[in-house]
Amino acid sequence: MAKIPHRFNLTEEQMPTQWYNLRADMKEQPDPMLNPATLEPVKTPELYPIFCEELAAQEMDSTTRYIDIPEPVLNIYKAYRPSPLNRAYDLEKYLDTPAKIYFKFEGNNTSGSHKLNSAVAQAYYAKMQGITSLTTETGAGQWGTALAEACGYFGIPLTVFMVKGSYNQKPYRKAIMQTFGANVIPSPSDTTNVGRAILENNPDTTGSLGCAIAEAIELATSTEGCRYVLGSVLNQVLLHQSIIGLEAKKAMDILGEYPDIVIGCAGGGSNLGGLIAPFMQDKLLGKKNPYFIAVEPASCPSLTRGLYAYDYCDTGKVTPLARMYTLGSGFIPSPNHAGGLRYHGMSPIVSKLYHDGWIDEARSVEQTKVFEAAMLFARVETILPAPESSHAIRVAIDEALKCKETGEEKTILFGLTGTGYFDMAAYTSFMEKTMTDYIPTDADLQPGFDSLPKIPGRPAEPARDPAPARR
Ligand SMILES: Cc1ncc(COP(=O)(O)O)c(C=O)c1O
Repeated sequence: MAKIPHRFNLTEEQMPTQWYNLRADMKEQPDPMLNPATLEPVKTPELYPIFCEELAAQEMDSTTRYIDIPEPVLNIYKAYRPSPLNRAYDLEKYLDTPAKIYFKFEGNNTSGSHKLNSAVAQAYYAKMQGITSLTTETGAGQWGTALAEACGYFGIPLTVFMVKGSYNQKPYRKAIMQTFGANVIPSPSDTTNVGRAILENNPDTTGSLGCAIAEAIELATSTEGCRYVLGSVLNQVLLHQSIIGLEAKKAMDILGEYPDIVIGCAGGGSNLGGLIAPFMQDKLLGKKNPYFIAVEPASCPSLTRGLYAYDYCDTGKVTPLARMYTLGSGFIPSPNHAGGLRYHGMSPIVSKLYHDGWIDEARSVEQTKVFEAAMLFARVETILPAPESSHAIRVAIDEALKCKETGEEKTILFGLTGTGYFDMAAYTSFMEKTMTDYIPTDADLQPGFDSLPKIPGRPAEPARDPAPARR
């Protein structure tokens, strides 16, 4: 068998031309989204004031297994895809592990992350519908940058509410978004009712994704021709991100490989959901049994310590209610350098798969341990990883070290979702040893749980055992 290359690229012709809708193969569907006013399941037209019609249809479609990627979206994908599948030979050597470590690298585009995969799709559908402006939130800035890039390409005006902590930490992120033509506002802001209310209660808050989402939705629903787009959590976003897993699986097939373990970081769940999608299909259909690990920050532990409950997707409590693992929409996590993982909830699809045991394990990791892994990875693999992505690196390293102990030659695949060029304040803080690890106590989490809406007949379920014994 030929030696597996360090970096493997599918050809343009081999790039998938359809997204894969994992819901079509799930044994049980995620619970339906509920209208917060009536507590009845949401019907597609009720989503039209917020989302474009095609995206609303994708959001509600749990039966169409494969959905064609429109030609103009494929065209932009081809500017930066197929993304490479790398074999981390140098990391393996450094760790002296018998494990084979692969990573799917999504940071090879100007926006710097996987977020562009959904941004171009969402901007395209908005353009097709004649939407005149878009608005969104951004945490770390990766999503805002990706959407600014996509909106710049399609010529759609964009307003981005950027979590204030990141806005202050990353002035150049803001500048890139502005370069692509976006208007960037730190959140919470005094430009919306919900932002003003949050500032009144907590003037020094560094903000949260949930709060920025609420501001963007308020702008969308109060502005003619404006729609809201979200970079994660939603079913439609996981659908678009399935391109990551589809390419990874195809590349591994060609190389004669299949992962024993698939690892992804989890903020709102979109890269994880996209990376695991076709491998999860194999598991659901009984063809293969890869072990899936979702990695989250110990400071924002929605899967490992959250409740499985109906909750708002935003702090302003205006979005439909979704059943997911959540810390409560009122939970504002402590400042953490992985801004993109500071979200109170989790994709309903990822939550359901985790709840039912299809995602085998969720692991929470402390940020100093994450940055140890990031520094090592940067030095041996010569890629500067984003803090979010480095959560997956941490666990990939830990799993490879376990293989060293047991002598097992497992094949590990992880998602390297982005680069960390705008996260140098975080790297500096790690190097200067000023970085701290804050793990919320149960008492810290309680107010968030108390903020959960009470839905008759659908009580909150406690956290699952995050790491049951391996089969
Ligand atoms: C580089 C990177 N990776 C991962 C994430 C987490 O998002 P998700 O869980 O939707 O993939 C983010 C979010 O901003 C990100 O910027």
